[in-house]
This record gives sequence, structure tokens and C-alpha cells, in this order.
Amino acid sequence: MAHDVDALSTALGIDVGGSGIKGAIVDLNLGELHTDRIRIQTPQPSTPDAVASTIAEVAAQTGWTGPTLGCALPAVVKDGIVRTAANIDADWIDFDAQSLIASAVGAPVTVLNDADAAGMAEMRYGAGRGEKGVVLLLTFGTGIGSAVFSGGVLVPNTELGHLEVDGVDAEMRASARVQEEEGLDYPEWTIRVNRYLNAVEAILWPDLIVIGGGISKQHAEFLHLLETRARIVPAALRNHAGIIGAALACKEAT
Ligand code: BGC
Repeated sequence: MAHDVDALSTALGIDVGGSGIKGAIVDLNLGELHTDRIRIQTPQPSTPDAVASTIAEVAAQTGWTGPTLGCALPAVVKDGIVRTAANIDADWIDFDAQSLIASAVGAPVTVLNDADAAGMAEMRYGAGRGEKGVVLLLTFGTGIGSAVFSGGVLVPNTELGHLEVDGVDAEMRASARVQEEEGLDYPEWTIRVNRYLNAVEAILWPDLIVIGGGISKQHAEFLHLLETRARIVPAALRNHAGIIGAALACKEAT
């Protein structure tokens, strides 16, 4: 690395997804990964104990030695407690994720929703930087995650991926997982995404929509097919936003 990074400007970020658990030490001055990204497959079933041990394994493999970490989970998280479980094992519901992960890793942890983490990172370092209006970040992956900001302030746990569109939970028709499973090409998939974006824009009037999640790497193939009232841009931090946002959340909590 060409620059010096002191301990105060780094933190460990972990992003738990439906298919992989990813982590890296993050340089919070630059908003970039400071170490290589470690990825281990999400255990199946993704029970709290199995996921917590994998988180500890990812943390160890990054070379991290403390003192704190942030962990993004694909669920509603309030005061350290998980409240929903659309794409992880149902045993997570009402589970004290903060205590479990802290004892598995041996350090205090800040837990938050994965899309909220990605949104925080994009607002600080990426596509939402300097945006004062209403910003909506949507992550397209195993599910659809959402993060909403107004004046740079997050409204946590918005869960707009579960909006009902044409009688169906939106993420069951328009997530990146569904695109892959049903073999939809971009024109086919974006018809569904446009139905979804239209429904979202009927209830929320964002000034800017940021498209994130794994699929945002391929934005050149589909972004021009999306029709929105708001400006729409790809996530600048791509699939690293969750890791960077988790690290940022832990730094902000201390
Ligand atoms: C969950 C959200 C999560 C999103 C992306 C949804 O199924 O309900 O909490 O942010 O998936 O992982």
C-alpha cells in the first residue's frame, strides 16, 4: 500500500449475505478495502451458531486483531436483535445477534441491516456523496435490500424489497437471484425491475436512486433499460459497500 494507515482509521467490516460471508479490514479515511476480501460460503442451514462461527473464521483470515468490528446482516436489526429472516435461517428471529457475534469473535460488535450498511458507505464515500435530498439505495442480490436517506440521515430498516408488486413480494420476482434462477436476460429482468421501481416511486419520491448489490458490477448492461423519475446511478463501491459500511457503522458507534 502506498499510504500509511494508522490503527485509528481502520476497522473490520463483515457482510453476511444469503450465499457468502465477506469481510475485510477497511481504510476509513479512503473508504476502501485495506486488505484482500475474504469470502466463505454462508453455511446451510444458516443458523445463528453456524453463521457466527463463519464470521469468526472470516475475521481471523483477514488478519484482524481488534478492537471492534461491524457486521451487516440480511435482516431487520433493532438494538442488536434480529427481527426478520427472509434469506437466513428462521432461528435468527428475535435472536440477540450482537451478543452472539461478540462472543464468537471475542470483541464488541455493531450489527446492522446489510442494505443500510451499503447505503452508509455510498453516502460517505460513493454515489451518494454530498447528496442532501432523498436518496434510495437498492441492493439486488439474494433478496432486494433498501436504504433511505434524507439530508444524509438514514431511516433504518426500510425493507422496501418486500413491497408487494402485482400481488407478489417484489424480491421474489426481481432480485438478482431470481434473474439467475429463471435465466432471465437483462431486457426480461429489467421489465420486472421497472414494475418494482414504479411501485417504489409511487410511495417515495427519491431524488437519487443508487443501484447496488453484486449485479451492480454489470450496470453497463442494464442501467439504460431502467425507467425512473429520479436520477439513477450505479453504486460506486459495487459489492464492497456492505463491508465498508459495516466498518463505518462500528467506527461511528464508538
Ligand atoms: C431482507 C432485508 C435485506 C435484503 C438484502 C431482504 O430479504 O428482508 O433485510 O436487506 O434482503 O439482503
